[in-house]
Amino acid sequence: MKKVFSGGNITSGDNLSFWFESAKNPIAFEKLSNDIETDILVVGGGIAGLTSAYCLAKEGRKVVLVEDGFIGSGETGRTTAHLTCALDDRYFELEKTFDQSTSKLAAQSHTAAIEWIANTVKLHHIDCHFKRVDGYLFLHPSDTKETLEKEYEATKRAGLSTEMLSAVPGIEAEDGKWGIKFPNQAQFHILLYLKGLADAFIQLGGKIYTQTKAENITKEGATANGFAVKANHIVVATNTPVNDWVTMHTKQWPYRTYVIAAKVLKGKLPYALWWDTGDHESKWVAQPYHYVRLAEYDDQYDVLIAGGEDHRTGQADDEDIKEEDRYTRLIEWTKKRFPGMEDIAYKWSGQVMEPIDSMAYIGKNPGNDNTYIITGDSGNGMTHGTLGGMIITDIIMERDNPWIDIYSPSRITLKTTSDYLQEAGNMVAQYGDWLSKADIKNVDDLKPGEGGIMSSGFKKIAVYCDEENNLHTCSAVCPHLGAILQWNADEKTFDCPIHGSRFTKEGKVINGPATSDLKKVVV
Ligand SMILES: Cc1cc2nc3c(=O)[nH]c(=O)nc-3n(C[C@H](O)[C@H](O)[C@H](O)COP(=O)(O)OP(=O)(O)OC[C@H]3O[C@@H](n4cnc5c(N)ncnc54)[C@H](O)[C@@H]3O)c2cc1C
Ligand code: FES
Repeated sequence: MKKVFSGGNITSGDNLSFWFESAKNPIAFEKLSNDIETDILVVGGGIAGLTSAYCLAKEGRKVVLVEDGFIGSGETGRTTAHLTCALDDRYFELEKTFDQSTSKLAAQSHTAAIEWIANTVKLHHIDCHFKRVDGYLFLHPSDTKETLEKEYEATKRAGLSTEMLSAVPGIEAEDGKWGIKFPNQAQFHILLYLKGLADAFIQLGGKIYTQTKAENITKEGATANGFAVKANHIVVATNTPVNDWVTMHTKQWPYRTYVIAAKVLKGKLPYALWWDTGDHESKWVAQPYHYVRLAEYDDQYDVLIAGGEDHRTGQADDEDIKEEDRYTRLIEWTKKRFPGMEDIAYKWSGQVMEPIDSMAYIGKNPGNDNTYIITGDSGNGMTHGTLGGMIITDIIMERDNPWIDIYSPSRITLKTTSDYLQEAGNMVAQYGDWLSKADIKNVDDLKPGEGGIMSSGFKKIAVYCDEENNLHTCSAVCPHLGAILQWNADEKTFDCPIHGSRFTKEGKVINGPATSDLKKVVV
């Protein structure tokens, strides 16, 4: 399918995910074209923003949602849409960092989020291929059975009805010998779900403006497409906050993660979710793991969607594995475990925000009483985003909610020191790129469709040569806090290695925390 829109409009990179291609049309509404007043302004039309908007409208509040691209344009449209309470960061780690009661509340909250989605799908008859499936956590070759045993015990203490298995269904490699079964998890087609949720929100009296970018967010509202939007409450659901310059960006780190989707004959594999326990020899604090599921494709085939091979955003080269080469590794990994897979039908990548203490940040923006954020949702953003809507609605409605404290963006976590120091050290080290980073010596080195970073005296220039051989030259200095950007040849974007801001090949901002485009320069 030919891309109709690109560059942060329909999606936040050059590759279209399976969801966009199979949903066919972008979920579009009118653009904002006049000043407005509302009770609640939601910024961001991913799962977090749309769920918040829907929940608040259901309470009878007047809600307006503004989205820079289209509904699902951000990381939500690039997800793999596992709905699970099997957390990336392990329950035994939550017990260590916090305590057993926090771990139990986390398990309850994710289970409730899946239930909430199931009920909403049923209530509004949303045809989004929602299915209850079992999930299996199995050993990465670098890990030991002890991890599974510890996790199994911790999930039991957290109140989950998990089972220890001596063979994982569906996987043929040795890694699947031991596993933990998480029963009654779920999966869906994310964009069909968002379409149904958006329609339900509109029926409740909500208003959505797409291709409408919010700027100058304050406690009185924002400007959007240059028009004033006045509001009593502002929910910033932009995946990484764009209303805060520093505070939240020292508590979470951006990682790029890769996905392939391969055709597999229907009936060859059970519908299920599979995850390995992560690479314990990885240089990255987040210890990247693989995640796999099936989705409906056509009458004959399903697609097997497998993800992993993550790295800190903008730092793929630090492992000597370029962004575009990560798919080859992912295909090899998947083929070994799921040999029934056939042609690769799709490949794409996306960004996840990893919080320092394994818990997402949902609630009042630190220092603000009427501004709320949902961020740091790691690889569990489907449930965290849903929880975001549930929790923020209860805060605004002044109702008790047992999860407000554990997800509070203002919490102070004392037991994360070594990971924190490692990630913070990585951040500081990136400023060394001011002295070193240059992929290309001369603009003549670039072929059409290629980009890179070039030194010109003391300046660093982000250069892109378009398909018509025209050069686009911008400053390669991130407008957030001044890091040098990295060219991502796979998604054709300039990515910031520090807090994950991203820019199109022509320098237009796609992802915060940066809020402005790259400065044009003449070479
Ligand atoms: C490859 C991949 C696989 C994943 N797999 C899973 C999974 O299996 N299960 C799971 O639970 N999670 C998964 N995740 C994580 C999950 O997809 C994300 O955490 C989640 O979708 C984030 O949702 P969001 O609404 O917070 O952000 P987004 O979906 O990024 O939404 C934010 C929106 O805000 C808009 N925006 C930004 N700035 C502005 C502005 N100034 N004005 C207006 N709009 C603005 C953006 O255009 C965007 O649409 C995965 C993520 C990736 C990348
Ligand atoms: S995103 Fe913070 S310096 Fe680039």
